[in-house]
Amino acid sequence: MKKKCYTMAGITAVLGTAAIIGGCGGSSSSKGTEAPPTAIVSSVPSTSEPTLDPTKTPESTAASSAISPTSAPTSKATSKPTDSSNSSITAVANPESLQVIANKNRALPSNYIPDDLVEPNVPFPYKEKVEKRKLRKAAADALEEMFAGASNDGLTLYAVSGYRSYATQKSLYNHYVETQGEEHASRYSAKPGTSEHQTGLAMDVSSQSAGFQLEENFGTTPEGKWLAAHCAEYGFVIRYPNGKENITGYAYEPWHVRYVGKDVAQQVMAKGTTLEEFYQLAVPASGN
Ligand code: DAL
Ligand code: ZN
Repeated sequence: MKKKCYTMAGITAVLGTAAIIGGCGGSSSSKGTEAPPTAIVSSVPSTSEPTLDPTKTPESTAASSAISPTSAPTSKATSKPTDSSNSSITAVANPESLQVIANKNRALPSNYIPDDLVEPNVPFPYKEKVEKRKLRKAAADALEEMFAGASNDGLTLYAVSGYRSYATQKSLYNHYVETQGEEHASRYSAKPGTSEHQTGLAMDVSSQSAGFQLEENFGTTPEGKWLAAHCAEYGFVIRYPNGKENITGYAYEPWHVRYVGKDVAQQVMAKGTTLEEFYQLAVPASGN
């Protein structure tokens, strides 16, 4: 079996390639916090490791039996409580799975970097050649098709923020805690290691009509409505739907789409559900 080494909590975990998924809570101001200024990205401090040690915790089987689609990830996970005031956090052992779930309860290895990041050929509302333009190849291809589909319907979507490294997410999250407070930050920004953006499978999308902003208002624009109605046809889901904060852990983000493949995406969007519910990985409502 192919093995990869990922570092967590200063400890290197040797993990197999069988898919692993895992699962988190949040409430609403309408402005998101996901568009990191380039200056923040470029001034990232060195990282410290999350307090996860997958080598010293009991193995538990993640949701494989609870997953309805045949494309369900086969998952194994390890978990341990982080502290007495928080829920347990699962160490995601297969971050490269296209169905990987990262959320407030499921942390990626801090040193995980997808090895197939590419820049999709789609419009961006800025010129800088920064890491956030990128997605993993499968997601990038699907994003190009989706943007072409919108274009055929007379709408222009813009890609704002895709891949973010652990270090970038750490800097971004800390910036929002400092400027907007921890409560607001926790509703819109993931702590380092728990962001889907680190998987290279999520893209924040906006439009000229929304001022290229990542705000709730985007969901009311023609482009935002088109995205919600059609994203599943291309393998994406609206990852943080309205009214699901107690399940996903995050406030409504009509701009954040996540690639999971057409089969899962169409089932999730048709049910009006979340990936947490689909994989039965609900997040505690108070989980930050
Ligand atoms: N806005 C999402 C939750 C993130 O920071 O990954
Ligand atoms: Zn996002």
